[in-house]
Amino acid sequence: MKKTETAKVLSNNKLAEGIFDITLECPEVSALAKAGQFIEIYPDNGANLLARPISICEIKENALRIVFQTVGKGTKLFSEYKMGDKVRILGTCGNGYDLKNGSALLVGGGIGVPPLLETAKQLISAGSKVNVVLGFRSGSFLSDEFEKLGAEVHIATDDGSVGFKGNVVDLIKAEKLAAETVYACGPKIMLKFLSMHCEGQNMPLQVSMEERMACGIGACVGCVVKIRDEVSADGWTYKKVCKDGPVFDSREVCWE
Ligand SMILES: Cc1cc2nc3c(=O)[nH]c(=O)nc-3n(C[C@H](O)[C@H](O)[C@H](O)COP(=O)(O)OP(=O)(O)OC[C@H]3O[C@@H](n4cnc5c(N)ncnc54)[C@H](O)[C@@H]3O)c2cc1C
Ligand code: FES
Repeated sequence: MKKTETAKVLSNNKLAEGIFDITLECPEVSALAKAGQFIEIYPDNGANLLARPISICEIKENALRIVFQTVGKGTKLFSEYKMGDKVRILGTCGNGYDLKNGSALLVGGGIGVPPLLETAKQLISAGSKVNVVLGFRSGSFLSDEFEKLGAEVHIATDDGSVGFKGNVVDLIKAEKLAAETVYACGPKIMLKFLSMHCEGQNMPLQVSMEERMACGIGACVGCVVKIRDEVSADGWTYKKVCKDGPVFDSREVCWE
């Protein structure tokens, strides 16, 4: 179920260069929220921009926390919001992760890290042992919050400025990290190589795909990905990330 709500900005903090952390008071939408889902935020600045999808980083009482990177007009506008500002949102959108019992490995790349925080919180409170692997180009953010929750945190950076020098898949192989279920969010190339590794190790992997979106509500085909489909003549079909995802079983995705 989705609702449109006028949310109130409770806080806006800069977490790192170009990374912002906003808490929105939105009792109706937050009551519907699941780990791995996202909200659509309307940039109401008269520029007529489409709503922008941003993942739920944390579900709080009557509020949602989002963490995002400024890349263009919409996210730049969001980064300038002040406490008390009103923001129109739609949510919650998408399916979210299917949280399983047992040990978990959470793998995030760059701006794919935020949705894993709520995922870790829920898995840990359900009694799962959680290992988290976070990959960044340089530096890191949110890693201390995963540690506070009780997760074992491993960091990989391209430039070696923090933790392991290299990518998340190489770190997972080097440290022989394994779990009953793997949950991931990040760039498609990272998800593809992680998928190959998990398939080889027989570890089920749920991937959150952050494709570019247009309408965000299933009305166009701006966000489709190829998903295996034995019934169709070609063996695959298009599915909409905004409606059927953003989380898919990695074995269903046609990685190209
Ligand atoms: C389901 C989902 C969840 C997301 N969650 C988050 C999140 O938690 N935090 C976060 O920072 N971002 C997230 N994103 C990406 C975010 O939606 C885009 O960065 C944002 O819409 C860009 O809007 P803009 O107006 O600032 O930039 P635009 O002016 O629209 O674009 C600026 C640049 O960013 C690129 N870009 C735009 N959208 C994407 C995208 N989806 N993936 C890669 N490049 C893109 C464009 O190609 C362009 O080069 C998510 C995307 C999806 C689909
Ligand atoms: S963005 Fe329009 S169908 Fe997904």
